[in-house]
Amino acid sequence: MSDLTTNKILAAILAMALVIVGLNSVIPEFFQKTPPAKPGYAVAVAADTSGGGETADAPPDWGAVLKTADVTAGEAKTTACQSCHKFDSAGTNNIGPGLYGVVGRKPGSHPGFSYSTGMTAFSGKQPIWDFDHLYMFLKSPQAYIDGTKMSFMGLKQPQDRINVIAYLHTLGSSLPVPAPKPAAAAPAAAPAKS
Ligand code: HEC
Repeated sequence: MSDLTTNKILAAILAMALVIVGLNSVIPEFFQKTPPAKPGYAVAVAADTSGGGETADAPPDWGAVLKTADVTAGEAKTTACQSCHKFDSAGTNNIGPGLYGVVGRKPGSHPGFSYSTGMTAFSGKQPIWDFDHLYMFLKSPQAYIDGTKMSFMGLKQPQDRINVIAYLHTLGSSLPVPAPKPAAAAPAAAPAKS
């Protein structure tokens, strides 16, 4: 191999490295993990830093976590949804169905929206979007509902999902919040308030 060829290859590798470094600084929000707003209040489901682990992430005790969820932070997180969804009370459809009142609504049932067969099949098994199912779906929509056309990577952080669901619950939902589970069932859930 001539020196010239070697130089060209090295230059190509260097250019590629620069592009990767550049991307990292242009879109830091894709790489950033924001720490929980209230450190004392970690959900009992080990923070999901692996990005993979499907099993460790059981839904929380909604009766407890919804009381302290940060609705404003949840609303802010829905900027990620707004390229596809609208949240107005008229239920306007967009690329995705209108989400006003989705908590407690039957999956795949919003008038005027043409759902995927995957979502329609899910709706045959699951009568309503309750807190647990929203929590599991929003983590990784396409992993949770085979064939859904919601092409969104998901909200990996449990607290983000809790906040978003708390916000969605304020939008015309009448689904009652379940009573908190007895303390014995959730040993790590109630640290003393400092
Ligand atoms: C890239 C576009 C896109 C983004 C981003 C997106 N969605 Fe969706 N969403 C869809 C589509 C399309 C559907 C319909 C899915 C189907 O029919 O399979 C959907 C369906 C849903 C449903 C089920 C609604 C119903 O009527 O059954 C919920 C809940 C939902 N999305 C919540 C969210 C939330 C919350 C976010 C942001 C955190 C979000 N989506 C981000 C496109 C998107």
